[in-house]
Amino acid sequence: MSRWNSFNRREFLSTAFGAAASFSIVPPGRRLLGELLHPQSKFAPLQFPEEFIWGAATASYQIEGAWAEDGKGESIWDRFSHTPGKVKGAATGDVACDSYHRYKEDVALLKALNLTSYRFSISWPRIQATGSGDPNSKGLDYYKRLADALLEAKIRPLCTLYHWDLPQKLEERGGWPNRDLVARFTDYVDITVRALGDRISHWCIFNEPWVFTFLGYARGIHAPSRKNFAECMRATHVVNIAQGQAFRAIKAINSKLQVGTAFSMAHCQPATSSDADRQAADRAHALGNVWFVHPALHGEYPKAFPGDNPLDLMGVKSGDMELCRAPLDFLGINYYRRQLVSAIPPGAGEDATGVHNFDAHDGPLTDFAWEIWPDGFHDLLMRIAHEYKTTPLEITENGCSYLDCPDEHGSIPDERRVQFMRGYLHGLGRALLHGANVRAYHHWSLLDNFEWAEGYAQRFGLTYVDFRTQKRTIKDSGHWYAKLASTGSLT
Ligand code: FCB
Repeated sequence: MSRWNSFNRREFLSTAFGAAASFSIVPPGRRLLGELLHPQSKFAPLQFPEEFIWGAATASYQIEGAWAEDGKGESIWDRFSHTPGKVKGAATGDVACDSYHRYKEDVALLKALNLTSYRFSISWPRIQATGSGDPNSKGLDYYKRLADALLEAKIRPLCTLYHWDLPQKLEERGGWPNRDLVARFTDYVDITVRALGDRISHWCIFNEPWVFTFLGYARGIHAPSRKNFAECMRATHVVNIAQGQAFRAIKAINSKLQVGTAFSMAHCQPATSSDADRQAADRAHALGNVWFVHPALHGEYPKAFPGDNPLDLMGVKSGDMELCRAPLDFLGINYYRRQLVSAIPPGAGEDATGVHNFDAHDGPLTDFAWEIWPDGFHDLLMRIAHEYKTTPLEITENGCSYLDCPDEHGSIPDERRVQFMRGYLHGLGRALLHGANVRAYHHWSLLDNFEWAEGYAQRFGLTYVDFRTQKRTIKDSGHWYAKLASTGSLT
C-alpha cells in the first residue's frame, strides 16, 4: 500500500482552506468542543500533505524493562521506583513492556499501523553504567538491532538521547545542577552518535528539559525527588549548556545529522484579560515553553521573572550563553494541554515568577483528568511558528490516557481516543493551513506503558498491553490512526 496520498502541499492548502471557511461560521473553539462532545457530528475533512510524517513515540524506561540486564547500570528512575511510596501501586519499570526483548514485535506493530517514524530513547546507563568511561557494547548493540529493524521496515528512527534516565552514580555526584554533567553528557552523546550515526539520522538531544528539571529538582515528584528551587534553576542552565555542547558534538561527527530537542509546551492563556494576567501568561510561556529554546536559537534567556532573570542563582558565567547557542535543525513539541495563568505577588521559590498556572476544565477530561482543548494546540503552534520562524517543527508527542480494556471479542473500543485525535489533528491541520511549518506528528504512545509516578494507572497506548502476559493488541484508535497514516485524510 502506498504510504502517501497524491496531494502536494499546495493542493493540501486549497483543500484545507475550504475546510477553514466552514469553520468561520462558528467560533473554532466552540465547534471543536462540540465535536468532541458529540462524536457523531462531522469535521470538515482535511487532507494532509503527501510528505507529512506519521509516527508514534515511546521512551526507554517506560517500555524496555531489563533494568539490570546486559551490563546496564542503575538509573535515577530505577532508584526512584524502588523507593517505597514514590510511584502509585509500588510499580516499577523493571519489566514494563519488556521491549528490550520484544522490540521486533513492536517494530511489527509500527508497520501494521502504517507509521513511518518511530521516536524512542536510549537509556544512558545501558551505554555507560555509571555515566562515564568505556561504552557497554551490549547496550549499543541493542540499539543497533532496533535501528536496523526499523530501517528494514522503512521506518525512520528518531532517537532521543535523554528521556530522564540519568545514571544514578551521576546523581550522587550532584546530578544536573552540577556543571560537570555537561562534559559527562557530551561524552555519552559522542560515544552514542559515533556508534549509531550511520543508521540514525534524526536525533532529539533531550526530552522535556522543563519537566525533568522542575518536577525532579524543584517539586520532587519525579526522580531524583529533590525540592530545591535554586538547584532546579542551576540545573536548567547546565542543561542549556549541555544542549549546545551536545549539538556541536553531533555535528562534528556528521554535519548532515538532523538535531533538535523535544520540548514540553502548553498553551498559556491569561485567566482574565487584565494586563497583569497577560504579562503573567507571557512569563509562563517564557519559563515553561521556551526556556530551553531561546538560549539555543538566540543566545539569551527569555524574560520569565517580573524583575531580572536570576542569572547569578543559575550560575551563569561570562561566555556561557555562547555555549548554549545551537541552531537546532528542528524543534520537537510535546503538547498535551493548555494552562490558565493569573498573576500573583512574586514570592519565594517558583513563586518568584509571579505566576499561578492551573489546568482549565472547560473542555471534556481524559481519564487522567487532562482537559481536551484542541484550539490550544493550534494556538501554541501558531505562536511558536511565529516566534521561531525559520525552524521546522515536529510534534514529538501528543496523546491521552483512557482506561478502555478488551471487550468480549478481544477488541479495544476506545472511541474517545479517536475523538481526541480527530480534534487535535484538526487543530494541527489548521495550523498548517495558517502557515506553521510542521512536518511530523508522533502519537504518544505506541504502547500502554509505565507512566512515571502514575505507574501503570494510565494507558496512553495505541496498542493495549496486558502486563500479565505482555500480549499486545492494537486498539480501535490504532486502526483508525493506521488508516489516516496511509491516506493522510482526516475525516
Ligand atoms: C510526557 C513525557 C512522556 C509521557 C507523556 C504522557 O510528559 O515526555 O514520557 O509520560 O508525558
